[in-house]
Amino acid sequence: MVIVEGVPAYLYLDEEYIAHHLGRRQRGYGRGGRQQIERDHAHIQTGVRHGYTLGSPIGMLIENRDWVNWQEAMASQEGRNQRVTRIRPGHADLPGAMKYGFHDVRNSLERASARETAARVAAGAVAMKLLEEFGIKLHSHVLSIGRVKANPPDQGAIDWDAVEESPVHCADSDVADQMMAEVDAAREAGDTVGGVVEVIAEGVPIGLGSHVHWDRKIDAKISQALMSINAVKAVSIGEGWDLLDRWGSEFQDVIEPVTDPDRPWQRKTNRAGGTEGGMTSGTPLVARFVIKPIATLHNPLPSVDLDTGEPVQAHFERSDVCQAPPAGVIGEAMMALVLADAFMEKFGGDSIPETKRNFEGYQATVGPRLRYS
Ligand SMILES: Cc1cc2nc3c(=O)[nH]c(=O)nc-3n(C[C@H](O)[C@H](O)[C@H](O)COP(=O)(O)O)c2cc1C
Repeated sequence: MVIVEGVPAYLYLDEEYIAHHLGRRQRGYGRGGRQQIERDHAHIQTGVRHGYTLGSPIGMLIENRDWVNWQEAMASQEGRNQRVTRIRPGHADLPGAMKYGFHDVRNSLERASARETAARVAAGAVAMKLLEEFGIKLHSHVLSIGRVKANPPDQGAIDWDAVEESPVHCADSDVADQMMAEVDAAREAGDTVGGVVEVIAEGVPIGLGSHVHWDRKIDAKISQALMSINAVKAVSIGEGWDLLDRWGSEFQDVIEPVTDPDRPWQRKTNRAGGTEGGMTSGTPLVARFVIKPIATLHNPLPSVDLDTGEPVQAHFERSDVCQAPPAGVIGEAMMALVLADAFMEKFGGDSIPETKRNFEGYQATVGPRLRYS
């Protein structure tokens, strides 16, 4: 069950839109067997009437089709069980068992599974639909898989339809085959492979977030949201780590003179990734994250048994080989949730028309002080 709160009334929302994004999460080269079982669909239960939101919490139910195979092992009451004790390094197995006093690793294994990201994508789709009403669109693409790095076009020149068609969700069609070969090589070796993913939000108004409150800084919130995705180990905003060798004059995004009242505050570059002082700067928001090679290996690592502490091979069950392509879709959802929150905090309103009035009123003031406000 997914519950989304804070969505104003009169947002058009249909299940197909949400299903489209859930489907995107399930695709991608390197996914494992589970995605053949699941065909995710979020059934809207509350908060929407005749296609339009009511302002009340939106409840959605996503069926877990794999459940039939686990009814005994995961029964809420009595059921047959085969304990898992061969802990996997790199997963929630060991800290989860110690923290909760579990004797069966499955108790934390299932909850730590990225299956929960289906719920995030459903909630994120609602946030994306809200943001689209105000001209904000989100995309993602894979920058690298293992040792294969993409050389994508400039962000404004990316063909997003082609990225959707790419099995590895990559904007550089020249390296897609090499990325797939990298995944195949990992699969054949019984291994896994990670990658780097970029998430972009276009059409973001200037001034979302806060330079006043450390916990409301938009770059900090986006970082936390992306870092919370299973297996993400690093996040950067804009050029992030790439700026280490630049001087100040080479890094800042120089502001252009205002010539078009409808498009003030254009920048020559977007190295800062659309944030300054914890607020959006009006350029596209750009964040990258590193997703590690996942921990469940077909050719398992040496480990120890939870009961005895004796050496064993780590547990294996059906697993992905590479999760970078679907992780971009989850990243979009997480960025959308943060942006929608910041957007509603700034513009408020109980209905879309009211929020639009507030938004347009603000946008009319966003220009050189002496000319437009
Ligand atoms: C889309 C996606 C799919 C994943 N699939 C698997 C998987 O099949 N097997 C696995 O062991 N981990 C998988 N993971 C990663 C684990 O959920 C994650 O490593 C685990 O929860 C431990 O958290 P940590 O890596 O952040 O420390 C996946 C992550 C994502 C984002």
